[in-house]
This record gives sequence, C-alpha cells and structure tokens, in this order.
Amino acid sequence: MSRQASLHKLSSAAPVIAPSMLKCDFGDLASEVSTLDDAGSQVLHWDVMDGHFVPNLSYGALTIAPLRHRTQQIFDAHLMISEPERYLDSFLEAGCDCITFHIEAVPDPIPLLEKIQQADCVAGLALNPGTPVEKIEQAIPYCDLVLVMSVEPGFGGQSFIPSAVEKIKRIRQTSDESLLISVDGGISPETIGPCAEAGANLFVAGSTIFETNDYRQAIEEMHNIAEHHRPPLSC
Ligand code: DX5
Ligand code: ZN
Repeated sequence: MSRQASLHKLSSAAPVIAPSMLKCDFGDLASEVSTLDDAGSQVLHWDVMDGHFVPNLSYGALTIAPLRHRTQQIFDAHLMISEPERYLDSFLEAGCDCITFHIEAVPDPIPLLEKIQQADCVAGLALNPGTPVEKIEQAIPYCDLVLVMSVEPGFGGQSFIPSAVEKIKRIRQTSDESLLISVDGGISPETIGPCAEAGANLFVAGSTIFETNDYRQAIEEMHNIAEHHRPPLSC
C-alpha cells in the first residue's frame, strides 16, 4: 500500500489497536493472522529484535514476507535493531507499510526517515522509556509516526511505565495534528485510557489480546475505551 493510502487508512480508523505479533503463536502464524482478520484487526505490529539493540531475538523480514499475501492488514514493522538502514530494503520487500526504528540506534534519524518516505512507506521513530522527548524533537516534523515505548523494549508481558503518558502529551502538544502517535508496551483496558486522553491514536497490545480466547472482544474493549477517552480536538 502507498504511504498516503496507509496514512489515510490509519488516521480514519483511529483509535487503532495493533496486535503485537511478538505474543502470538509462532508455531501457527498463518492461522493467527487469519484469526486476527476475523477479529476485525486492521494493523499487525511486527516486533523485530536482533539480540544486540535489545537482549532478545524474535524474527526478521524472512518471517514477515510469506504472511503478506494472506491479509489486507497494514504491516507495521517495529525495528528494535542496530543499524536498521542495513536491513531497510528487506523490510520494504517483505511488504511492510510502516517502518519504525529507534532514536537510540540512529541518533541522526532524519536521513533514514526521508529514505523510508521516499520508498513510499510510513516512517516512524521510536523512543525508549529512558529517552527524553527533546532527543526526537527536531526530527518530529520528518516523522509520520512517533512510537512511545511504555516498557523497556525486548519482551512482551511487562508492566506499563506511567511516565509514557506525559511524553505522549508533550509530543501531541508540540506536533502537527496529523502525526500518528503510537504507544507500545503494557497496553490493557486499564492503561489505554490515559494514553488516548494524552493524544495517542495507535495502541500496540500483545498479552492483552493473545492471552485471551477472544481476540475480537479484547480488541473491541480497548478500542471502545480509547474512543471514549479521545481528546475532543484530536481527529
Ligand atoms: C516490546 C514490544 C512490544 C510488546 C508488547 O519490546 O515492542 O510490542 O511485545 O507486548 P505487551 O502488550 O505484552 O507489553
Ligand atoms: Zn513493538
């Protein structure tokens, strides 16, 4: 999908709940994707880990690519890897619609953000819980999406770090209304409300979805809470 089409789909569907595929059944990926289709999911969040930028390994473009033809959902790649520019082409070829990399991995992120956009892909920049918003401020006008980590990256199933809410608020106050703000880690019916109120519109959730038997219900419950807490001026 083109960058403009993905941006349009994401902003018109907001608030969007994106299942974190780190927490799905890796032994049955194709059926997890189809169950999520049936559950009404519109975005799949692919957590890519290299065992270097984060202390864990997950999967890469080779795992994502064969799932591409199975669904119309937006593929949102979250690259928790060092030197993401080295692997950019493989994630583009795998059919990723959004590509997010970390400011801690690429301290001068603007050239890579531009490169992703030139490839007709949504460009995202992520920041860890310990990284202040000032570190990304200059780059925000070049971002389609900012991803605020609300846990230390590397593992699913951790507790939400509340300071993420203030960061979301600060980013929303100082950026264009069209900026997508994603929050990732420990998202549940209890934590999603304050994030939505602060201005986030894309919510990544792993455990809360995959630890239930009813993905649709888990997604809808969080979606409804986010919708209810949506600030009046955001679109
Ligand atoms: C953490 C990943 C998250 C995580 C979400 O490094 O980026 O996407 O898997 O999982 P939960 O919702 O279980 O925190
Ligand atoms: Zn993630």
